[in-house]
Formats: sequence, C-alpha cells, structure tokens
Amino acid sequence: MSKSTDLTPGMTDTTTGRIVSEFADAATEIREAIATERQFADEENPSGESQLAADLVADDLLEERLLALDGVGSYASEERESVTVDEGHRHVAVDPLDGSSNLEPNSGMGTIFGVYDTQPPTIGRNLVAAGFVIYGPTTSMVVARNDRVREYIIHDGDARVVDDDVSVPTDPTVYGFGGGRENWNDAFADYATELQERLKLRYGGAMIADVSQVLTYGGLFSYPALEYRPTGKLRLQFEGQPMGYIVEAAGGKSSDGQQSLLDRGIDDIHDRTPLHLGNTSLIERLEERYERYE
Ligand code: AHG
Ligand code: MN
Ligand code: MN
Repeated sequence: MSKSTDLTPGMTDTTTGRIVSEFADAATEIREAIATERQFADEENPSGESQLAADLVADDLLEERLLALDGVGSYASEERESVTVDEGHRHVAVDPLDGSSNLEPNSGMGTIFGVYDTQPPTIGRNLVAAGFVIYGPTTSMVVARNDRVREYIIHDGDARVVDDDVSVPTDPTVYGFGGGRENWNDAFADYATELQERLKLRYGGAMIADVSQVLTYGGLFSYPALEYRPTGKLRLQFEGQPMGYIVEAAGGKSSDGQQSLLDRGIDDIHDRTPLHLGNTSLIERLEERYERYE
C-alpha cells in the first residue's frame, strides 16, 4: 500500500493521514502474527493481564512504525507501562490487539487507535482521529475523522472504501453486555432486563467486533461498572476514548453512565472506565436510569 494514500480525504494534516495509513499497512503483519504467535509470553501487561506473544509483536511493530513517522510525538500502548516520547505534534494511543483471549477459539480480534493533539494521558476531546482494524473473515478498518466515518476492506496491500459514511442505524436491534449480571448494579441490571426483551444478543468477547455489530445493526454495547470493579474493565485511553469518538462521529453516543467518554477525566493512561456505546436514544435512557438510582 502506498504510504502517500490518504485514507481520510479532506484532511489538511498529513501527519494524521500518514498515521492512519500506517495502521492499514501494519494490518497484514499483525494478521500474520495472530497466526504464528499464539503462545503466552510469560509476562503481564500494566493492567495485570497475561500477555500473548501476539500482543507484544503487534505492540513492538506499531511502536516502531509509528515513531518512525515525522510528526509523531509519542506512542502509548495498553501493553506498556509508560509513554514513549519523541518530537512531534501528533500523539498515538493504541490497543495493539483487542480481544486477544479470542485467539485460541479463533474469534474476532482487532487493533484500536486514537490520534491526539496532546500527549496521553489526555481526555478524549483532544482526539483528532480514531479507528479500528478487525482481523475477521476479512481485514476491515473503520476510521473516524471530522465527524465522518469510513469503512475499508484491506486486501492484497490495498485499502478499498466499502462504506463512505458509516452511521448507526436508527432502529436498534442488537445488544452485548460484559461482566455478568451477578456483578452489575441495580440500575444497569434493570435496564438490561428491559433491553433484553426487545433486542437480540450479540456478544463475542472483543469490543471492536461487538461495537462493529452496533455500528452495523444499531443497538448497545456495554461493559459497565462491576461490584468488584467499580470502574469496569475497559481502558479509557486505549479503548473507551477512540471507540467513543468513532460511535459519536457515526451519530451515536458514548457514556460512562453519566457523561460522554470524551469528557471523562483521566489521571493515568491505564485508567479504566465503565463503558456504554450505541444509539443516542439508548444511551440517553441509560443515563436517566443511572440518575434515578443515585
Ligand atoms: P484486550 O484483549 O485488549 O485485553 O481486551 C479485551 C476486552 C474487550 O475487547 C472485551 O470487550 C472484553 O475484554 C471482554 O471481556 P470478558 O472476557 O469479561 O467478556
Ligand atoms: Mn482491548
Ligand atoms: Mn489488548
């Protein structure tokens, strides 16, 4: 794929365009690593989770490729304790492999990225672009920039647009909720019961694939606060902010239960957040429910 391909037309900042293209280019190698690097690495990431060799290969590869680009001022990753700093006005935060526990059963996995004008830790309002790649039956990439979301198929070294204007369908049909009912609070458990009566379940254990279901069919993906984990499981910088930015640009909403994920404060790059992404009507109703239970 040509490095000059601008996957986000209309962008004046070519650094951001080059960063996005780099993720499309790296996708082929990461897909290869998923096939070959299947073993555990005998190490834990900063969130205390076991790392697979594929997590580390994807992380190393992305760090090297992104910091080699002019204008990239830092690289932050779910797999590393601290931010790697360089000189430049664009900053990248990455979940190199989202859903890596799906490696063994060969289910959905992906890469999530956010491009910021400020070095992480930073709030989601400082995003200038975000995207995700899914290594599914085909490799696809979704990129949000300037309130517009595009979907590409990456094949044979080329990224081809398959949807020029991705938007959350008005009529929601699917839901996917993580964490297990016995650990949810009453506000979320009651709302879940209501939605389970009218939507159908789609939960695959990788948020990129589950959120892609929501972008395609409309609905709600949640990984809420849990009794034993009051800030939930998913990471704000690497998962919540970029996916929130994408869903909001596609006409939906994101929330931590009270506010947009893009407004939620952050102290550390590895901070977690309760997370809800989906149709505006569903998120608004969820926030009302939470308010009533307070
Ligand atoms: P990661 O592989 O980057 O650690 O992310 C896994 C996350 C997310 O993708 C998914 O929604 C969630 O963990 C699934 O968790 P459960 O196994 O608790 O359902
Ligand atoms: Mn993840
Ligand atoms: Mn990951």
